[in-house]
Amino acid sequence: MNTAVSAASLYNRVSRVIPKAEWMSFEEDVEAILELKRKRNAVILAHNYQTPEIFHGVADIVGDSLALARKAVDVDADVIVLAGVHFMAETAKLLNPTKTVLIPDTEAGCSLADSITPEDVALLRKAYPGVPVITYVNTSAAVKAASDICCTSGNAKQVVEALGVPRVLMIPDEYLARNVAKETNVEIIAWHGHCEVHELFSAEDVRQLRENHPGVTVLAHPECPPDVVAEADLAGSTAVMSDYVGEKKPARVVLLTECSMSDNVAVHHPDVEFIRPCNLCPHMKRITLRNIRTALEENQHEVVVDANVAVAARRAVERMLAV
Ligand code: 13P
Ligand code: SF4
Repeated sequence: MNTAVSAASLYNRVSRVIPKAEWMSFEEDVEAILELKRKRNAVILAHNYQTPEIFHGVADIVGDSLALARKAVDVDADVIVLAGVHFMAETAKLLNPTKTVLIPDTEAGCSLADSITPEDVALLRKAYPGVPVITYVNTSAAVKAASDICCTSGNAKQVVEALGVPRVLMIPDEYLARNVAKETNVEIIAWHGHCEVHELFSAEDVRQLRENHPGVTVLAHPECPPDVVAEADLAGSTAVMSDYVGEKKPARVVLLTECSMSDNVAVHHPDVEFIRPCNLCPHMKRITLRNIRTALEENQHEVVVDANVAVAARRAVERMLAV
C-alpha cells in the first residue's frame, strides 16, 4: 500500500500525532524499508499497538489479532515481517508455512503467553476430562497445539458458543474469560494469566475519568479486569474500539488499552478528542523502524515452528477462523 510513495509525502498522514522534527528522524528508515519491501517482495503486518510511524508509515496490513490472523492467510508475498509480538509472528507462520516470517525482535513477548505451558494444559485436561480447551491467540504455538480451538478478543464469545457444550476451559486470560462469562450461559473455567498492560486499569480510574472529562465515552479492552469493563460504555477488541470511534464519532473518547492505539485511531478522526490515560506494552514497543529495516536487510529473525507442533496448532487456529 505504501510502496509507491515517498517518506516525505507520507508525513501528511501522521502530522497530527508525530511532530515534523521527529518524523524527519524516521524518514531515512522509512525510505529504506519501502525500498526493501519492493526488493524482497515483502509485506509488513502491524498490530494496532504499533507506533504511528510503523502503523501509518510502512505497514501494508494493520489490525487486531483476529484481522492479522485472517489476512495472513491471503498474503501474496515471499516475506512477512510481523510488527507485533512473538505469538502473532508464530500465528502468521502457522498460516503461511512456506513463506519466510520475520520478527524484528525475538524478545517481543507477552505476559499472557508466558503464563501457561503445554504441561499446564495437560494438567487442566486431567482435572476437567472431556471439557474442550479454548486458547486465546496470545499463547505459544505449543500451547495452541495442546488446545482444541483458538479465540481472540474479537470472537471469544462466538467461539465459546459455537462448541455447543455446557462447559469450556478458556485459557490463559482470566479477565477475558470472566468478561465473556458475563455474556453467555456457557460455564467458563479460567486460568490465572493476566495482561500486564490491561490489568493496571482500575474501576476508580474510570470514575475519575468521567468526573474530570464530562461526557467522555469509555471503551475498554476485554483484557481489563471485569470491574473496569463494568464501568465502561463498551468492551471490545482493538478493532471493535477503532470501528466504534469511526461509526459513532463520540466528541470525547478514552481507549483503555495500549498507548499507541489512540494515536493510530486519532489520525483518521480529527474531530474526536482523545483523552489519553494509557499503558505502554514493553513488548510491542521493542519493534522499531530500525529493527524492521534490519530484519529485511539481514533476514532476521526467522520464525520457525516445530513441524509436529505446527500441524496441531494450525488446526486450532483454522478451527477458529472457520467459526
Ligand atoms: P486484539 O488486537 O486482538 O484486541 O488484542 C490485543 C492485545 O493485547 C494483543 O496483544
Ligand atoms: Fe501481551 Fe498485553 Fe502486550 Fe498484548 S498488550 S502483547 S496481551 S502484554
